[in-house]
Formats: sequence, C-alpha cells, structure tokens
Amino acid sequence: MENLELRENTSSSFYLKELKAIKRANRYRNRVVFDENLKDFASNDYLGLSRKKKLLKKAYRRVKRYKFHSPKASTLVNGYHPIHQEFEKYVAKLNGFEKALCVGSGFLANLSIFEALPRRGDLLLFDEEFHASGLLACELNEAKVVKFLHNDAKDLEKKIKEYKITKNGRVIIGVEGVYSMSGDLINPEIFNIADKYQALLVVDEAHSVGVLGKNLLGVFEYFDIKPKTNHIKMGTLGKALGSYGAYVLSSNEIYDFLCNRAKATIYTTAPSVFDIALAYEGLLYIQKNINKYKKFIRNRKQKIKKILHQNIKSLILVIEIKSSVDALKIKEKLLQKGFLVGAIRPPTVNKPILRIIPRIKEKGFGKILKIIKNEISNGL
Ligand SMILES: Cc1ncc(COP(=O)(O)O)c(C=O)c1O
Repeated sequence: MENLELRENTSSSFYLKELKAIKRANRYRNRVVFDENLKDFASNDYLGLSRKKKLLKKAYRRVKRYKFHSPKASTLVNGYHPIHQEFEKYVAKLNGFEKALCVGSGFLANLSIFEALPRRGDLLLFDEEFHASGLLACELNEAKVVKFLHNDAKDLEKKIKEYKITKNGRVIIGVEGVYSMSGDLINPEIFNIADKYQALLVVDEAHSVGVLGKNLLGVFEYFDIKPKTNHIKMGTLGKALGSYGAYVLSSNEIYDFLCNRAKATIYTTAPSVFDIALAYEGLLYIQKNINKYKKFIRNRKQKIKKILHQNIKSLILVIEIKSSVDALKIKEKLLQKGFLVGAIRPPTVNKPILRIIPRIKEKGFGKILKIIKNEISNGL
C-alpha cells in the first residue's frame, strides 16, 4: 500500500483510511490469477464442466446457427434471443415450474426478486445466512425486513406471528437450498411453514443444482417437493453448470410481474447468448450422465467420511479455523503443495473457515484430505 500513501491528500484519501483499517483487521483481499495447473478445490465448478471442451464446441455450434450471437439490447427491446427462449422452456419443464426467466447472473436474479416482489406492508423474512445479494436488495424495497435464525423453522414461525403485517400484506421468505458458506441443506420444515402461512418461498439453489436430487436438479427434487404457485426457485449457471448467468422459476404471474417490474432485469442488456447456450449444453450433458455424476458425488462423500470422519450433505466441506491469519497460512501452505482451497474470512463469514469443494474428477483429493487431517491433528 506504500505507493498509495503519496495520494493522502487526494479526493480518494477517504478510501485510503478505510483500506488501512481493513488491512489492520486482516480482512484485505485482492484478486489473483492462479496458475491453472493447481489442483482446484476452491471453485464452485462442482462437476468439473468448466474444462469440458466438448460443451464449449457444442455451445459455439448452437450460437452459430443464428444471425446474431450477442443479445444487443435488453430483453424487452429486442435482446430476447431464441436460445434464451429455448433454454427457458427446457429448464421450466425439467423442474416442473410454469415459467423460467433467464437473468444475467445469480446476483441480478436475487436483486430482481427481492427488489420487485416485496411491497410496503409486506413482511420479508431471510435466513440469517442468506447471500449478500438478497440482503442488498432489501435496501431497495419498502417491506419490513426481518432475519430469522439459521435454518430454524420455529424461529421463522415465531417471527411471522410476531411482526404484524398490514391487512393486504404478504409474507415472503428467502432461503438457500444449500448454504454457500456452511454447506448446510435447507431445513425442509420451512416448506411447510411457507404453506401454512401462504407465504411466497424463494429458494436460492445456487449450490444445490447439479449436486442434489434424483436428477441432480436441487433441493425441491431431493425433498420430493412438487413446485407450487407460492414457490420461486433461483438457479445459477456459473457453478455446477459451468457457465455464467441464472434463471428464475416461478408461476406464470410471478414471471409476468418480474418481466414488467424487476429493474435489475429490465434495465440491463439481456443475458449473454453464448453463456446461456453453454449452460444449456451443460444441463443437457448432466441429464444424459446422471448416474455417472451421482456415482462420482457418492465417492467424494465416502472419501471425506473415511478420511475426515465428516458426513457432508452437499459438495461443500467446511473446516473452522481459529483466526484469519491461520486460515491464510494454511491456504498458503496448501498452495505450495499445488492445491487451491478457499480461505474465507469475516465479514463474509462469522468465523474464518477453509472452504473445500470436492470437485469431481480433480486429481489429488485423497492427498489433500490427508494433509488436512494431519493439520487437524497438529492443532489446526
Ligand atoms: C447462494 C448464492 N446466491 C447467489 C449467488 C450469486 O450468483 P452469481 O455468481 O451467478 O451472481 C451466489 C454466488 O455467487 C451464491 O453463493
């Protein structure tokens, strides 16, 4: 940061002070282009599709069939491309929802949902571990926003009863299928509470699509829950599907409303045509190879159980670390041995963790687990 000191008296010096405070708290972060030969156990590419060149070629061919390969405008002008439409039809039908809406990213999808749907007089309840995108959107709506204890259906019910809503107000609940920083699965009792109070339930399935369920479609399928009109499912394309973007599955009315009112969907260029094509190919490929992927997932879980004696339900392995400094040290040590893992620190999480993704087909998984086991027995 030395070179920045010279700029102490410029208009950006305010940020310099904050940056110094972030550094003092060991919370300073920077972007790194990692060596692509590292064994990657950090990214959300759960099924390893990000390096399947066959899918890249198929997506290219799919896009090449059309005169235009970029969206050129927002969806309500003329950015809605036949590939968007085809993918939406496929993903809605596959998941048993009436409609699907392609969105540029999961962040934009949550921003769209939680900015547009809650109105003044509504009660919006979030699991306390809900993703930052939903929480940011709450600052843009006029509903009463309350957090409930993580995965605690009783606390959710208590808060529905406790916080009065207006006569015409509704209850909207925001949860994740698999929580990104703990790997916890949604408590299925929350679906019952949503039904009991006729609440709209928004399930962010960023980390459960491609990981859970009979056809790897996520938690609705895993818990055998048939989608209803009070359900909204958000799935991302940048994780197990090996692309970038998102989709929102819902009833016809919610779909129509989002198309007409969600600013983060309306006032932006339509999603990248190529990325949607790539996700489409990824999803078709997973559906053709369900049993193969389910077997890979089972093997990864069994290996974790055998070596670390931990039962993981999703594909996120979390190991708590005493301090942010220690988390960074262990990450560095693993890097020197050729392994990349996530060292996640406050404020993203309450306590520092190592976040390890047992990516399918990545070599050296047994080895990294043994190194971690060693570190744990040395008081990690
Ligand atoms: C739970 C959750 N929701 C939403 C997002 C945002 O999705 P995207 O990366 O597609 O913007 C993420 C992570 O990136 C996430 O972990």
